[in-house]
Amino acid sequence: MPAIPNSLQKMFSPAQINGLAMKNRIIKAATFEAMLDDNNNISNRCIDFHERFAKGGVAMTTLAYCAPEADGRMMDSYLYVREEIRPQLQKLADRIHAHGCMLSGQIAHCGGFSRNKKLIRKRPVAPSTQFSSVGMLYGNFFTMTMDKATMEEVARSYADCGRIMKESGFDAVELHFGHGYLLSQFISPLTNKRKDEYGGSIENRMRYPLEVLAAVREAVGDQFPILAKITMYDDLKGGISPEDGINSAILLDKAGIDGIIMSAGTSSQNPMLVFRGGSIMPGLLQYEKSAIMRLGIRLVGRSMFRNYPYRELYLLDIAKSIRAAVRCNLIYVGGATEVESLEKVMDAGFDFVQLGRPLLRDPNMVRHLEELNSRYINGCDHCNRCVAFMNDPAGIRCVLPPWKEATPHVPG
Ligand SMILES: Cc1cc2nc3c(=O)[nH]c(=O)nc-3n(C[C@H](O)[C@H](O)[C@H](O)COP(=O)(O)O)c2cc1C
Repeated sequence: MPAIPNSLQKMFSPAQINGLAMKNRIIKAATFEAMLDDNNNISNRCIDFHERFAKGGVAMTTLAYCAPEADGRMMDSYLYVREEIRPQLQKLADRIHAHGCMLSGQIAHCGGFSRNKKLIRKRPVAPSTQFSSVGMLYGNFFTMTMDKATMEEVARSYADCGRIMKESGFDAVELHFGHGYLLSQFISPLTNKRKDEYGGSIENRMRYPLEVLAAVREAVGDQFPILAKITMYDDLKGGISPEDGINSAILLDKAGIDGIIMSAGTSSQNPMLVFRGGSIMPGLLQYEKSAIMRLGIRLVGRSMFRNYPYRELYLLDIAKSIRAAVRCNLIYVGGATEVESLEKVMDAGFDFVQLGRPLLRDPNMVRHLEELNSRYINGCDHCNRCVAFMNDPAGIRCVLPPWKEATPHVPG
């Protein structure tokens, strides 16, 4: 077996997050699986899906995305966490642990960008009332400003969700503070127009997200790892600036977060910043049942699905500015596909790396890296067709031929 370079040795070395032993530094990123049964429960196929990464050697895998209450689902077909699905969550945890792997669950509430036709409240909740271009075709024309009582109710749902996950055997939770979900709607000046103590300065815009963090912390206790996924910037005029990104990381650090996953983009307005690479628009059109919605996607397509060509480590530079500003664990995500990139992430002082598409391409990536180290080639070409499968009943998957040693896919 070839000698393992120093930087890869760090990658394979054990580490801890708030006392949780991680066998290496590689975490399966949240990739919304879309694998539910008819009772809005995770299917056995979803369990098999995560087991593949556990067997393949990652230190932790992430169930995604899990709404903390029914109205937190972007569509009524998405998962929300509740007491009755506990046995299946426990089954997932047991199967993952059998391979020495840890399990995290991503908790995300869609807030105002809901397309859910079966809302319990009259309208989708949001920091401020706004017209919803995403929801209008589903009857959700306007969002509803959250009053204090609703804010507390939603924060409690996050806390309950964290508690259910912990009691079901999960080892960590990941709170979504980014990608345009509810907490990010509070952080972004585009969606937060409040005049009270929850709007205005970044301290005010972070107030509710931090209250949610405090509620979850109280529910899971001090010894349980809580991670936060943030948007470092969203490249939207008047949206989340890089300064907001750094400041929100600093505030999370001060509030006792155990690790920050540094992403970018807002799914409802500028999703390509999250992924970079092939446009996800053709795939979304393929799965959109509503003709009007298809027309809408075509009309806004150019401005919404902007062209961000893929490059390795596309978030590294901005992530480094956060490394310089906080002390908590930092988890790099975004285009860490090939060996050299993984080495650079470790060399830059990040504690862990999350991988999305590279692991969809090769679920055994960690084992293969250990065997081949510098000779390993992942070969994901970032066509992003996996993303469109989020709306496919068969669930997400890679469209490339199965991974083989040293046979990178060459885009035709
Ligand atoms: C199919 C697919 C589904 C995704 N679903 C989620 C999700 O549910 N929540 C989330 O925060 N990010 C989601 N992402 C974004 C990834 O977590 C990650 O931030 C992004 O893919 C960049 O990492 P990568 O270059 O390693 O793929 C998804 C990505 C893909 C490819």
